Amino acid sequence: MDFLLRYWERRPSFRAVAGQPAQLAARYGLIAAGIALLAITLLGPLVTSLVEDWSRRDVEMRAALVFNSVGGPLAAMLAGGQDDQINALFERVATDPRVVAVALCRGGDGPPSHATRLMPPSISCAEIARSDSESFSSVIVKGRRMLIGAFPISTETPQSHFIIVQDLTFAEHRGQEARNYLTLMLGGIILASGALAIGLVLYLIRNWMQRFKQAVTSATTARGPGSEAPASFGPLDREVRQVLRQLEMSQAAIDRDQANWSKTTLREIMMAELPGVEVLVVANREPYIHNRGEHGIELQTPASGLVSAVEPVMRACGGTWIAHGSGTADRDTVDEHDRIAVPPGNPEYTLRRIWVSEEEQDGYYYGLANEGLWPLCHIAFTRPVFRESDWRTYRTVNERFAEAVAAEAKTSSPIVLIQDYHFGLLPRMVRERLPDATIITFWHIPWPNAETFGIFPWKEEIIHGLLGSTIIGFHTQFHCNNFLETVDRFVESRIDREQESVTLKGHETFVRPYPISIDWPPAALEHQKSVEECRVAVRKRLGLPLDTKIAVGIERFDYTKGVLDRTRAVDTLLESHPEWRGRFVLIQAAAPTRSKLSTYKGLQDEAAELAEQINAKYADVSPAPVRLIIRHHEPAEVFELFRAADVCIVSSLHDGMNLVAKEFIAARDDERGVLMLSHFAGASRELAEALIINPYDTHATGEALHSALIMPEAEQHERMRLMRAYVSSRNVYRWAGRMLLDASRLRKKQRILEIASSDSFTG
Ligand code: G6P
Repeated sequence: MDFLLRYWERRPSFRAVAGQPAQLAARYGLIAAGIALLAITLLGPLVTSLVEDWSRRDVEMRAALVFNSVGGPLAAMLAGGQDDQINALFERVATDPRVVAVALCRGGDGPPSHATRLMPPSISCAEIARSDSESFSSVIVKGRRMLIGAFPISTETPQSHFIIVQDLTFAEHRGQEARNYLTLMLGGIILASGALAIGLVLYLIRNWMQRFKQAVTSATTARGPGSEAPASFGPLDREVRQVLRQLEMSQAAIDRDQANWSKTTLREIMMAELPGVEVLVVANREPYIHNRGEHGIELQTPASGLVSAVEPVMRACGGTWIAHGSGTADRDTVDEHDRIAVPPGNPEYTLRRIWVSEEEQDGYYYGLANEGLWPLCHIAFTRPVFRESDWRTYRTVNERFAEAVAAEAKTSSPIVLIQDYHFGLLPRMVRERLPDATIITFWHIPWPNAETFGIFPWKEEIIHGLLGSTIIGFHTQFHCNNFLETVDRFVESRIDREQESVTLKGHETFVRPYPISIDWPPAALEHQKSVEECRVAVRKRLGLPLDTKIAVGIERFDYTKGVLDRTRAVDTLLESHPEWRGRFVLIQAAAPTRSKLSTYKGLQDEAAELAEQINAKYADVSPAPVRLIIRHHEPAEVFELFRAADVCIVSSLHDGMNLVAKEFIAARDDERGVLMLSHFAGASRELAEALIINPYDTHATGEALHSALIMPEAEQHERMRLMRAYVSSRNVYRWAGRMLLDASRLRKKQRILEIASSDSFTG
């Protein structure tokens, strides 16, 4: 039986269709069959002997009946010595099919005096005809059981006996038949009731699991005040809801209680919520660039908001960062798998470099990403350029990164954090290679409204690509809304406004705001001198009188940053408030970026020209009001400038978040300094205590600059204190932590749904 069960269980069809409940039922069926076998073994012999007994008694009765009818005439014949008639009588009696033979024993020990033809010769009168009353005995003759009845004839002396021999084998057959019937009957009953029980078990389990699935689905989809009341599935429904609510509450509580998000807490949360999970980051820009310089190989940390946000997270979580190896010495520093442990000297994670040819770089990075998507998403009135060949290269490079993700993944369900507009097609490509991965795509730049995005020639493809993600993150709710509106306009899908999710071909993608932030306290602050020392050092280095008021602008030299607008505002300030002439300087530190593109090159030239013009206009003023420094600044230098400044100007024409604003706040542990922040940077949604400006309004920006310069210390202190409190708790670990907590919640939910819908539960 067990062998049968094992064989059955091994059948693929059984495993796939029946699954666990059927195994359970089969087990119960086997137990029932065992009970039936035991019953048959115990009851069989009893039934056989009962039936044989009944049959034997039946035969005895028939023998007595025969004797009753022939006894009288036989006695008369004996008395009259009518031997022939006795023989004739016996022959008549022996015609009965059950009667084997009849005979007469007349007092002696020898053979019978009269006997029919088939009387077994082995039967002697001495053994069978001794009793004064009727007697029965059974003997085996030639393998057949016979019943011998001996009836005394009272009129004879010495006593004679009428002997009748009957075949008893039919009794044995009857007993055997009865046992067979019993076996069949019991087997039938048990089989029928077993099948009924198995059917009932399967029905109940299937029914229960369907209800469980419905309960999970209803609990995961219909929540919130506006949602339709879901059908009730009774206690099960309540249980499921409670479990899911507890799951959500526990994670919301982590976020709420976790006022002090740090590298350590992020690590702890990862260990508790996503134990052993593998993290892969994909970003075009690498966190460490190796370049060949005058003194050999030099290490550079790129000026990139993305890098400054994601790098500390990788240090906390470990894992692999997959990026374009763009440095001139990058190939010389990797191992045979194109990997290098970073940070150099104190490795905490792996950097995997991907090689992109110059031609590909032109199409994918400069072309589609930075001449197409960048101006398209930033409404800064620079016309985007779309080239078919760029789009093809973008797809090729995205494919290459997808291959690398699949190659680097050690597990089938890693968390893949895809960064930015360079990888619009990558989420789906990764999903195709790793269907169980949790893919979180973060779009670091704004997402414009549907009408604007509508001009992108490959909008359907890129939306389709992004919707391969598990979660798509933006800095603000506004960008999330724009994205959902764009999907609604251009792609056939189901949008759930309550859940903020899009379902395309059965795959659901959640759209969430995660405002990015910075490491707190930032590493660059570690070896800084006091604010007073920085003020003096910077002024001395730049040849400025020590009482000069300084406003700083620090960023990549990008047309979205409003460098020209801010420089013009300096002119307005000096026009409207001549008292600042000779007492104020704008230090504009700008790192060259994407200089291969004419828009960027043109901007650098224009900015240099504008600075020259303004400085020429105030040629009689010293120091000159605009100081433009076009070069890369390492983080420590940037922080020194922040600490030395009185004002920081962030005048982006459009910006996803802008981390310069947050870094300035982090740099000012003296709680002094004023932040001027563009209304069009995502950061203005969070930093309400900054002086919010419209950089397109040059006059108003000049006036705001004046207000910043004369702001009383107490007010500076009050504003800075509030902003520092905000950024310190809403740091980059919270940004990453919230995404990872959401990922963990979705992974748990997914597992519940998978269990609920698996074959093994629904049969
Ligand atoms: C923005 C983008 C990032 C990019 C950064 C620097 O912050 O969102 O993705 O890394 O600019 O740009 P770059 O082209 O130099 O990488």
